Amino acid sequence: MNYSKKTPRDISVEGKKVLVRCDFNVPMKDSVIQDDRRIVSALPTIRYLLDNNAAVILCSHMGRPKGEVNPKYSLAPVAKCLSELLCQEVKLADDVIGESAKALKASCKPGQAVLLENVRFDKREEKNDPEFAQALAEGVDLFVNDAFGAAHRAHASTEGVSKYLPSYCGFLMERELDVLGGALAAPARPFTAVLGGSKIADKLALIENLLPKCDNVLIVGGMAYTFQKAMGGSIGTSICDDTKIDTLKELVSKAGGKLRLPIDNVVADSFSNDANYKTVKAGQIPDGWEGMDTGAETAQAFSEIIANSGTVVWNGPAGVFEMSNFSHGTRAIAQAMADSKAFTIIGGGDSASAVEIMGLADKIDHISTGGGASLEFLEGKTLPGVACLEDK
Ligand code: 3PG
Repeated sequence: MNYSKKTPRDISVEGKKVLVRCDFNVPMKDSVIQDDRRIVSALPTIRYLLDNNAAVILCSHMGRPKGEVNPKYSLAPVAKCLSELLCQEVKLADDVIGESAKALKASCKPGQAVLLENVRFDKREEKNDPEFAQALAEGVDLFVNDAFGAAHRAHASTEGVSKYLPSYCGFLMERELDVLGGALAAPARPFTAVLGGSKIADKLALIENLLPKCDNVLIVGGMAYTFQKAMGGSIGTSICDDTKIDTLKELVSKAGGKLRLPIDNVVADSFSNDANYKTVKAGQIPDGWEGMDTGAETAQAFSEIIANSGTVVWNGPAGVFEMSNFSHGTRAIAQAMADSKAFTIIGGGDSASAVEIMGLADKIDHISTGGGASLEFLEGKTLPGVACLEDK
C-alpha cells in the first residue's frame, strides 16, 4: 500500500465544500465525553480547511448503534465539544443524508463547520451502500478522510464516498501513516516490538508480520501462556489456545533469539483482585493457579531492552491491568517507554489507556488514535480508508 497520499495542502480548498470523515468515536459516559483526544487530534485538519476558506462538513460514527437511530449514540456532545474547541458554533444535523443534513450542507459557508449525525444511524453505512455513499457526497466538492481509527473499515463514509469525490488524506491520517509506516519501513535500530493482550489468535498475524522486521519481539500478556505451553511449560489454569500450539512451536523455532518470552509471572488462585497471588518462574505455574501478570524480573529485563532500543512499538497490556494487583507489568512497560530515548509508538487501545492513566502520555512520541486500525496496519494489511485516497 502506498502511504504517500495527497492532503489538502496539495490542492486548493478555497471556497470548496469539503466532507471530512473523522473518528469522533470517543469514550462516553451518560452523554459526557471521557477523553477528547480523538476530537483534539482532528483539529489541525479542520482548522486548516476553515483558515483556507473551505466550508467544512464533518461526519463520524459513534459506537455501534447497528443501523438504528439511538440518542445514546448521538454526536450532540461532540458538536458541543467542537464548538468550544473551534470557538464557533458547530451545528449538528438531525440526520445523516436526510432533509436536515441537506439543508445544513447547503447553508454551510466558507470558514464554517457543521456536523452530520452518526453515520451508523443508517444501516447502509456499514454495508458500504453506493446510494448512501453518493448521498453523502451530494452537495460537496471534495472528500478528506482523517478517520485513521476507522480506516480499516470499508464503509460508505470511509471508502464508498471516495468513488464520487476527489479524495484526500487528512493531517492526522498523514501523521499516523508517516509514523507507523516509517517504523515498519526504516526504523531506528534496534527495533523492538512489545506485544501483549490476552488472545494469541488476535495477535498472531501481528507477530508474524513484525518478527522479520524487528530486532526484538517481547511477548507479554495472556497470550504468553500459550507460548509457554508450546515450549513444554506448565501453565496451570492460565488462558491458553490449544489450537495454536503447533503454530507457535514453529514460530519460536524460526524466530531465533529475537522472540523473548516472560521469565517470571505473577499468578493467582482465582481471577480476582482479591485472590491470593505470588510470583513463579514462567512455565512453572502450579495446578490451580492462573497467570495474571508478568513478574518483576521480566519487567526489569524488558525495560532494559526498551531503554537500549532505537524504536519501540507497543501493542497490548502485559497483564490484567484493570486489577491493581496485576497492573505492575503493564505499568513497568509504560514507564520504560516513557524513560526510553528510543522513538516510542503506542498502537492505541489498552496500552494507550495505560499511559494516559499513568500520566505518561506526553512522554511517548506517538500514541496512535487507531485501535483495530493500527493493529491491522502493523499486521501489514491494506486499510480501505487509506487505499482509496489519491496518491502523491
Ligand atoms: C475504534 O474505536 O477502534 C474505531 O472508532 C472503530 O470503531 P469500530 O470498531 O466500531 O468500527
